Amino acid sequence: MPGLPLILDCDPGVDDAVALLLALAAPEALDLLAITTVAGNVGGDLTARNACLIRELAGRPDIPVFAGQDRPLVRPPVAADHFHGASGLGDLPAGVPTQGPEIRPAVDYLISVLRDRPPGEVTIAVTGPMTNLAEAIRRAPDVVPRIRQVVAMGGARREGGNITASAEYNIHADPHAADIVVRAGLDLVLLGLDVTHQVAATEARRDRIARLRSPQSHAVRQLLAFSARTEAELGTGGPPPLHDPCVILWLLAPEIFTLRPCHLAVETESPLTLGHTAVEFRTSERLPANARWATSADSDAAFARIEALLERYG
Ligand code: RIB
Ligand code: CA
Repeated sequence: MPGLPLILDCDPGVDDAVALLLALAAPEALDLLAITTVAGNVGGDLTARNACLIRELAGRPDIPVFAGQDRPLVRPPVAADHFHGASGLGDLPAGVPTQGPEIRPAVDYLISVLRDRPPGEVTIAVTGPMTNLAEAIRRAPDVVPRIRQVVAMGGARREGGNITASAEYNIHADPHAADIVVRAGLDLVLLGLDVTHQVAATEARRDRIARLRSPQSHAVRQLLAFSARTEAELGTGGPPPLHDPCVILWLLAPEIFTLRPCHLAVETESPLTLGHTAVEFRTSERLPANARWATSADSDAAFARIEALLERYG
Protein backbone atom coordinates (compact mmCIF):
# COMPACT_ATOMS: atom_id res chain seq x y z
CA MET A 1 0.00 0.00 0.00
CA PRO A 2 1.83 3.21 -1.10
CA GLY A 3 1.98 6.08 1.33
CA LEU A 4 -0.12 9.22 1.35
CA PRO A 5 0.90 11.43 -1.63
CA LEU A 6 2.28 14.52 0.10
CA ILE A 7 3.95 17.83 -0.69
CA LEU A 8 5.80 19.51 2.15
CA ASP A 9 5.88 23.29 1.79
CA CYS A 10 8.38 24.71 4.27
CA ASP A 11 10.83 27.44 5.28
CA PRO A 12 13.73 25.51 6.85
CA GLY A 13 14.19 26.60 9.61
CA VAL A 14 15.32 24.42 12.46
CA ASP A 15 11.96 22.82 13.22
CA ASP A 16 11.11 22.50 9.52
CA ALA A 17 14.31 20.49 9.18
CA VAL A 18 13.23 18.13 11.96
CA ALA A 19 9.78 17.81 10.37
CA LEU A 20 11.39 16.95 7.04
CA LEU A 21 13.60 14.26 8.57
CA LEU A 22 10.56 12.73 10.29
CA ALA A 23 8.56 12.73 7.05
CA LEU A 24 11.43 11.10 5.16
CA ALA A 25 11.72 8.38 7.80
CA ALA A 26 8.27 7.00 7.01
CA PRO A 27 8.12 6.41 3.24
CA GLU A 28 5.61 3.57 3.66
CA ALA A 29 3.16 6.08 5.21
CA LEU A 30 4.09 9.32 3.45
CA ASP A 31 4.89 9.35 -0.27
CA LEU A 32 6.72 12.70 -0.35
CA LEU A 33 6.26 13.82 -3.96
CA ALA A 34 8.28 17.02 -3.53
CA ILE A 35 9.53 19.63 -1.13
CA THR A 36 8.55 23.21 -1.92
CA THR A 37 10.23 26.05 -0.09
CA VAL A 38 9.27 29.63 0.69
CA ALA A 39 10.97 32.67 2.16
CA GLY A 40 10.18 32.86 5.85
CA ASN A 41 12.49 32.10 8.73
CA VAL A 42 15.34 33.09 6.42
CA GLY A 43 15.45 34.26 2.80
CA GLY A 44 14.16 32.14 -0.07
CA ASP A 45 17.62 31.17 -1.36
CA LEU A 46 18.57 29.87 2.09
CA THR A 47 15.34 27.94 2.71
CA ALA A 48 15.76 26.23 -0.67
CA ARG A 49 19.41 25.44 0.06
CA ASN A 50 18.52 24.14 3.53
CA ALA A 51 15.82 21.84 2.15
CA CYS A 52 18.43 20.43 -0.27
CA LEU A 53 20.89 19.92 2.59
CA ILE A 54 18.32 18.06 4.70
CA ARG A 55 17.23 15.97 1.69
CA GLU A 56 20.92 14.99 1.27
CA LEU A 57 21.28 14.19 4.98
CA ALA A 58 18.24 11.91 4.66
CA GLY A 59 19.76 10.22 1.61
CA ARG A 60 16.79 11.04 -0.63
CA PRO A 61 18.17 12.71 -3.78
CA ASP A 62 15.11 11.32 -5.60
CA ILE A 63 12.79 13.90 -4.02
CA PRO A 64 12.76 17.19 -5.95
CA VAL A 65 13.02 20.55 -4.20
CA PHE A 66 11.23 23.51 -5.79
CA ALA A 67 12.07 27.01 -4.59
CA GLY A 68 9.01 29.21 -4.13
CA GLN A 69 7.96 32.76 -3.46
CA ASP A 70 10.70 34.94 -2.10
CA ARG A 71 8.42 37.47 -0.43
CA PRO A 72 4.91 37.65 1.08
CA LEU A 73 1.91 38.56 -1.08
CA VAL A 74 1.46 42.07 0.29
CA ARG A 75 3.37 42.92 3.48
CA PRO A 76 7.14 43.42 3.69
CA PRO A 77 9.12 40.27 4.54
CA VAL A 78 9.74 39.49 8.21
CA ALA A 79 12.36 36.84 9.01
CA ALA A 80 12.85 34.76 12.12
CA ASP A 81 16.62 34.23 11.86
CA HIS A 82 16.97 35.23 15.49
CA PHE A 83 15.35 31.86 16.30
CA HIS A 84 16.93 29.83 13.50
CA GLY A 85 20.39 31.31 13.08
CA ALA A 86 21.73 33.22 10.08
CA SER A 87 21.89 30.04 7.98
CA GLY A 88 18.42 28.94 9.06
CA LEU A 89 19.75 25.61 10.34
CA GLY A 90 21.04 26.76 13.70
CA ASP A 91 24.70 25.80 14.11
CA LEU A 92 24.65 22.83 11.73
CA PRO A 93 27.52 23.02 9.24
CA ALA A 94 25.87 24.95 6.42
CA GLY A 95 27.63 23.62 3.36
CA VAL A 96 26.63 23.67 -0.29
CA PRO A 97 24.29 20.81 -1.28
CA THR A 98 25.59 18.53 -4.04
CA GLN A 99 22.16 18.84 -5.68
CA GLY A 100 20.29 22.14 -5.75
CA PRO A 101 16.62 22.94 -6.30
CA GLU A 102 14.84 22.41 -9.62
CA ILE A 103 14.70 25.30 -12.06
CA ARG A 104 10.90 25.27 -12.06
CA PRO A 105 9.29 27.63 -9.49
CA ALA A 106 7.33 25.99 -6.69
CA VAL A 107 3.99 27.62 -7.56
CA ASP A 108 4.17 26.31 -11.14
CA TYR A 109 4.96 22.87 -9.79
CA LEU A 110 2.08 22.96 -7.28
CA ILE A 111 -0.43 23.90 -9.98
CA SER A 112 0.79 21.28 -12.43
CA VAL A 113 1.05 18.38 -9.98
CA LEU A 114 -2.45 19.10 -8.65
CA ARG A 115 -3.83 19.20 -12.22
CA ASP A 116 -1.91 16.03 -13.21
CA ARG A 117 -2.79 13.90 -10.21
CA PRO A 118 -6.31 12.49 -9.65
CA PRO A 119 -8.59 14.90 -7.77
CA GLY A 120 -8.46 14.54 -4.00
CA GLU A 121 -5.20 12.56 -3.97
CA VAL A 122 -2.54 15.06 -2.88
CA THR A 123 -2.17 16.37 0.68
CA ILE A 124 -0.21 19.58 1.26
CA ALA A 125 1.63 20.07 4.53
CA VAL A 126 2.62 23.69 5.20
CA THR A 127 5.17 24.55 7.88
CA GLY A 128 5.98 28.12 6.86
CA PRO A 129 4.16 31.18 5.57
CA MET A 130 1.35 30.11 3.22
CA THR A 131 2.57 32.24 0.31
CA ASN A 132 3.16 29.42 -2.20
CA LEU A 133 -0.21 27.75 -1.65
CA ALA A 134 -2.07 31.06 -1.70
CA GLU A 135 -0.35 32.12 -4.93
CA ALA A 136 -1.21 28.76 -6.52
CA ILE A 137 -4.87 29.21 -5.48
CA ARG A 138 -4.86 32.78 -6.79
CA ARG A 139 -3.39 31.80 -10.18
CA ALA A 140 -5.34 28.56 -10.56
CA PRO A 141 -8.51 28.37 -8.42
CA ASP A 142 -9.39 25.12 -10.22
CA VAL A 143 -6.75 23.31 -8.14
CA VAL A 144 -8.59 23.87 -4.83
CA PRO A 145 -11.09 20.97 -5.16
CA ARG A 146 -8.22 18.75 -6.34
CA ILE A 147 -6.38 19.12 -2.99
CA ARG A 148 -7.13 16.27 -0.57
CA GLN A 149 -6.28 18.21 2.58
CA VAL A 150 -4.06 20.99 3.86
CA VAL A 151 -2.35 20.43 7.23
CA ALA A 152 -0.54 23.52 8.44
CA MET A 153 1.41 24.76 11.42
CA GLY A 154 0.15 28.23 12.20
CA GLY A 155 -1.90 30.53 14.34
CA ALA A 156 -2.62 30.83 18.02
CA ARG A 157 -5.74 31.15 20.17
CA ARG A 158 -5.18 30.43 23.85
CA GLU A 159 -1.39 30.85 23.69
CA GLY A 160 -1.20 34.36 22.24
CA GLY A 161 1.52 35.25 19.74
CA ASN A 162 5.19 34.36 19.39
CA ILE A 163 6.28 37.03 16.90
CA THR A 164 3.93 39.74 18.21
CA ALA A 165 1.68 39.80 21.26
CA SER A 166 -1.23 38.48 19.21
CA ALA A 167 0.15 36.64 16.17
CA GLU A 168 2.06 33.45 15.47
CA TYR A 169 4.97 33.78 13.01
CA ASN A 170 3.75 31.76 9.99
CA ILE A 171 0.48 33.66 9.80
CA HIS A 172 2.00 37.04 10.70
CA ALA A 173 4.69 36.60 8.03
CA ASP A 174 2.03 36.43 5.30
CA PRO A 175 -1.46 37.14 6.67
CA HIS A 176 -2.93 37.80 3.21
CA ALA A 177 -1.81 34.37 2.07
CA ALA A 178 -3.32 32.75 5.15
CA ASP A 179 -6.55 34.68 4.51
CA ILE A 180 -6.77 33.24 0.98
CA VAL A 181 -6.14 29.71 2.28
CA VAL A 182 -8.71 29.83 5.10
CA ARG A 183 -11.36 31.23 2.73
CA ALA A 184 -10.70 28.70 -0.06
CA GLY A 185 -13.05 25.97 1.17
CA LEU A 186 -10.26 23.45 1.77
CA ASP A 187 -10.24 20.54 4.20
CA LEU A 188 -7.92 22.47 6.51
CA VAL A 189 -6.25 21.29 9.72
CA LEU A 190 -4.33 23.88 11.72
CA LEU A 191 -1.83 23.02 14.43
CA GLY A 192 -1.14 26.30 16.18
CA LEU A 193 0.79 27.34 19.24
CA ASP A 194 -2.03 26.09 21.46
CA VAL A 195 -0.87 22.57 20.68
CA THR A 196 2.76 22.96 19.62
CA HIS A 197 3.60 24.53 22.98
CA GLN A 198 2.47 21.23 24.52
CA VAL A 199 5.05 19.29 22.47
CA ALA A 200 8.25 20.66 23.96
CA ALA A 201 11.71 19.13 23.61
CA THR A 202 12.67 18.94 27.28
CA GLU A 203 16.26 18.10 28.21
CA ALA A 204 15.25 14.53 29.06
CA ARG A 205 13.66 14.11 25.63
CA ARG A 206 16.68 15.65 23.91
CA ASP A 207 18.94 13.27 25.87
CA ARG A 208 16.95 10.28 24.60
CA ILE A 209 17.42 11.49 21.03
CA ALA A 210 21.12 12.00 21.73
CA ARG A 211 21.45 8.28 22.50
CA LEU A 212 20.47 7.41 18.95
CA ARG A 213 23.52 6.99 16.78
CA SER A 214 22.68 8.00 13.23
CA PRO A 215 23.91 11.18 11.48
CA GLN A 216 20.27 12.20 11.14
CA SER A 217 19.46 11.82 14.86
CA HIS A 218 22.72 13.61 15.67
CA ALA A 219 21.60 16.52 13.48
CA VAL A 220 18.21 16.60 15.20
CA ARG A 221 19.89 16.62 18.61
CA GLN A 222 22.10 19.53 17.47
CA LEU A 223 19.13 21.43 16.02
CA LEU A 224 17.12 20.97 19.22
CA ALA A 225 20.05 22.04 21.39
CA PHE A 226 20.29 25.22 19.33
CA SER A 227 16.54 25.79 19.71
CA ALA A 228 16.81 25.21 23.45
CA ARG A 229 19.33 28.02 23.69
CA THR A 230 17.36 30.48 21.56
CA GLU A 231 14.08 29.59 23.27
CA ALA A 232 15.65 30.20 26.69
CA GLU A 233 17.09 33.52 25.54
CA LEU A 234 14.32 34.85 23.28
CA GLY A 235 11.25 32.68 23.59
CA THR A 236 9.10 31.21 26.30
CA GLY A 237 12.12 30.61 28.54
CA GLY A 238 11.23 26.92 28.61
CA PRO A 239 12.12 23.91 26.44
CA PRO A 240 11.74 24.47 22.67
CA PRO A 241 8.30 23.64 21.27
CA LEU A 242 8.41 21.32 18.24
CA HIS A 243 6.13 23.39 16.05
CA ASP A 244 6.55 21.97 12.52
CA PRO A 245 7.07 18.31 13.48
CA CYS A 246 3.49 18.39 14.84
CA VAL A 247 2.26 18.57 11.23
CA ILE A 248 4.06 15.32 10.32
CA LEU A 249 3.06 13.67 13.59
CA TRP A 250 -0.59 14.50 12.90
CA LEU A 251 -0.35 12.94 9.44
CA LEU A 252 1.26 9.80 10.88
CA ALA A 253 -0.61 9.52 14.17
CA PRO A 254 -3.65 11.81 14.35
CA GLU A 255 -4.72 10.09 17.57
CA ILE A 256 -1.97 12.02 19.37
CA PHE A 257 -3.96 15.22 18.85
CA THR A 258 -7.43 16.54 19.63
CA LEU A 259 -9.06 18.75 16.99
CA ARG A 260 -12.17 20.94 17.13
CA PRO A 261 -14.12 22.39 14.21
CA CYS A 262 -13.93 26.18 14.17
CA HIS A 263 -14.46 29.29 12.14
CA LEU A 264 -11.01 30.78 11.65
CA ALA A 265 -10.40 34.29 10.38
CA VAL A 266 -7.11 36.12 9.88
CA GLU A 267 -6.43 39.80 10.68
CA THR A 268 -4.98 41.39 7.53
CA GLU A 269 -5.39 45.12 8.28
CA SER A 270 -4.52 46.13 11.85
CA PRO A 271 -0.83 47.03 12.34
CA LEU A 272 -1.26 46.05 16.00
CA THR A 273 -2.73 42.58 15.48
CA LEU A 274 -1.67 41.72 11.90
CA GLY A 275 -1.77 37.95 11.45
CA HIS A 276 -3.93 37.28 14.49
CA THR A 277 -6.03 34.13 14.08
CA ALA A 278 -9.56 34.54 15.43
CA VAL A 279 -10.50 30.93 16.24
CA GLU A 280 -14.23 30.66 16.98
CA PHE A 281 -15.61 27.30 18.10
CA ARG A 282 -19.19 28.67 18.26
CA THR A 283 -19.77 28.11 14.55
CA SER A 284 -23.01 29.22 12.96
CA GLU A 285 -24.56 30.04 9.62
CA ARG A 286 -22.85 33.44 9.85
CA LEU A 287 -19.53 31.86 11.00
CA PRO A 288 -19.42 28.43 9.36
CA ALA A 289 -16.70 25.94 10.21
CA ASN A 290 -13.80 26.37 7.75
CA ALA A 291 -11.03 24.54 9.64
CA ARG A 292 -10.25 22.10 12.39
CA TRP A 293 -8.11 23.53 15.21
CA ALA A 294 -5.78 21.38 17.33
CA THR A 295 -6.47 21.98 21.01
CA SER A 296 -4.33 19.35 22.73
CA ALA A 297 -1.58 16.79 22.17
CA ASP A 298 -0.20 13.78 24.04
CA SER A 299 3.42 14.96 24.22
CA ASP A 300 4.76 11.63 25.54
CA ALA A 301 3.18 9.81 22.62
CA ALA A 302 4.53 12.48 20.26
CA PHE A 303 8.10 12.01 21.43
CA ALA A 304 7.79 8.23 21.46
CA ARG A 305 6.82 8.50 17.80
CA ILE A 306 9.68 10.92 17.07
CA GLU A 307 12.20 8.56 18.64
CA ALA A 308 10.78 5.59 16.72
CA LEU A 309 11.03 7.50 13.46
CA LEU A 310 14.58 8.66 14.08
CA GLU A 311 15.62 5.11 15.09
CA ARG A 312 14.74 4.05 11.56
CA TYR A 313 17.78 5.96 10.29
CA GLY A 314 19.90 3.78 12.56
O1 RIB B 1 5.63 29.89 14.95
C1 RIB B 1 6.37 28.75 14.62
C2 RIB B 1 6.61 28.70 13.15
O2 RIB B 1 7.41 29.82 12.76
C3 RIB B 1 7.42 27.46 12.70
O3 RIB B 1 7.02 27.08 11.42
C4 RIB B 1 8.85 27.96 12.67
O4 RIB B 1 9.64 27.29 11.68
C5 RIB B 1 8.66 29.38 12.25
O5 RIB B 1 8.60 29.39 10.86
CA1 CA C 1 8.61 26.74 9.64
